[in-house]
Amino acid sequence: MKEFKGKVAVVTGAASGIGLALTEKCIAEGMHVVMADIEQAALEAAAEKLRSGGSNSILAVKTDVSVASEIEKLKDQTIQEFGAVHLLFNNAGVGGGGNTWMSTKKDWDWVLGVNLWSVIYGLQTFVPQMISQDTECHVVNTASVAGLLGGTTNGCYSVSKHGVVALTESFYADLQTEGAKVGTSVLCPGFVNTRIFESGRNRPADLTDDIAPPAMTPEQEARVEMFKKILEQGMQPAEIADIVFEAIRNDQLYILSHEAFGPMIEARARNITTGNNPTEVNLFAE
Ligand code: NAI
Repeated sequence: MKEFKGKVAVVTGAASGIGLALTEKCIAEGMHVVMADIEQAALEAAAEKLRSGGSNSILAVKTDVSVASEIEKLKDQTIQEFGAVHLLFNNAGVGGGGNTWMSTKKDWDWVLGVNLWSVIYGLQTFVPQMISQDTECHVVNTASVAGLLGGTTNGCYSVSKHGVVALTESFYADLQTEGAKVGTSVLCPGFVNTRIFESGRNRPADLTDDIAPPAMTPEQEARVEMFKKILEQGMQPAEIADIVFEAIRNDQLYILSHEAFGPMIEARARNITTGNNPTEVNLFAE
């Protein structure tokens, strides 16, 4: 997809961070944008700010992306308002979970629901519409560099993001087989300065455990503090949005933002093919 002006974009997780920056980039490219997010107040505030800045073509739709019927409603409202959809960002996501065997069923359900099932629903719902339009379209699924590395100490998140990478690779193959006019990319960023660390703000009560998680050890607390600092010093979301649009124009499947992770991705591939066990993944080694 090379032409964006006058086309229609749908962005999930649009009220904050990378999704908001993608929305702003879409507007700068002259697109109509449907902003979807679960956090209604933040969504409305973001949409209102963009409208008061002179952007008229914005529709905000409160959406829980982990629920198939809400994605269906999002598509219906998009078509009702703008008549088509050309660019879909399956971007909403949460950081959560921890130790693999101590993470609860609710931890897994929440993280996989928002990070992985949402992308599956997004494809099931929007791609038939895109194909029926017979116009140039593109779908960007947000994974993470955690979806390309092994051995990170956050099983739920890691599984969800490896899932998004695998799903997008299969989707890419399906599009080639069908000869569809739809392209796809999987965004695998490193650290970006967003509110991902405060993901718990949107965790539904029915997916929250009654029993509080065990208290953190001093080492775990230190790790959390370091992680927060690294995120604060991370790339700005607007830079990610620029990288993403460049990649869409080039019809590039894998979108990486931080070169420093390249050697770690290669080391993992080498360990797999040579039968070596993983060395510890130190995400903070940049
Ligand atoms: P963020 O927390 O600033 O934005 C995420 C947005 O998703 C929020 O507006 C939130 O309300 C929304 N959201 C959460 N649950 C939702 C649901 N059930 N339905 C609809 N919307 C929901 O975080 P950020 O970083 O902008 O996250 C965007 C994506 O980027 C996520 O998929 C995340 O995993 C991914 N990512 C972020 C990285 C980072 O360093 N910030 C690194 C790698 C990937």
